[in-house]
Amino acid sequence: MTQRRRKKNQWDDHYTRKAKKEKFTARSVYKLQEIQEKYHVIQSGSKVLDLGCSPGSWLQYTAKLVGRKGQVVGIDKKPVTLNLPPYVRVIQGDIFLLDASLDASGDASGETSLGSNYHVVLSDMAPATTGNKIVDSARSLDLCEAALATAQRVLKPGGSFVCKIFQGGDFKAFSDAVRRCFKRHKIFKPQSSRKASKEIYIIGIGKLQEAPCQDTANGQA
Ligand SMILES: C[S@@+](CC[C@H](N)C(=O)[O-])C[C@H]1O[C@@H](n2cnc3c(N)ncnc32)[C@H](O)[C@@H]1O
Repeated sequence: MTQRRRKKNQWDDHYTRKAKKEKFTARSVYKLQEIQEKYHVIQSGSKVLDLGCSPGSWLQYTAKLVGRKGQVVGIDKKPVTLNLPPYVRVIQGDIFLLDASLDASGDASGETSLGSNYHVVLSDMAPATTGNKIVDSARSLDLCEAALATAQRVLKPGGSFVCKIFQGGDFKAFSDAVRRCFKRHKIFKPQSSRKASKEIYIIGIGKLQEAPCQDTANGQA
């Protein structure tokens, strides 16, 4: 094994071992922890939507932050098999197919309804990768646009948005769309994200009341 590869594996092992020791289901939790420690997007009592929540480490971490007075709703195509507190609800479904069952008009009680008035929308959604960087970043962008459209519908004014994106051709257009929707806009690569990975997080803080967001693909409002 080359020294470089050994170093990379040690790095992976550090976060994987840490997650196991701290009883988190995935090492991805440390990306959200770094974001939270830097930007403080989630508060005690917050209502949080977690898009692409399986296997569930962000749900575990967010549940601790919001506490019993908060609410967490997660969505993923894949199931979440963890035992989670009663104020965490998981909807199994595809973000692209959820629109029909969305109820953004109030706090929905239905199993598949998202509700509204969220303080925070998180998206760690990632497409199944093909190894082709152009295809992968285009699929990531589709997920990001769906996440931003959802955030526009369900976030309270002043709310925050955290979204993973694979950097590619339309990265800037998407980043600019987030910039237009929020008072503050940050781009952040957590240390726990693998250096070789194209992933990066775009963070919008303080959703604007009249958010002039645009569709990044066709420039339409
Ligand atoms: C990196 S994982 C998320 C890890 C999660 N944050 C955690 O801490 O456990 C990305 C997730 O995005 C989900 N995903 C991808 N496309 C999706 C879609 N169209 N709708 C819903 N979830 C999707 C995948 O099923 C996968 O579980």
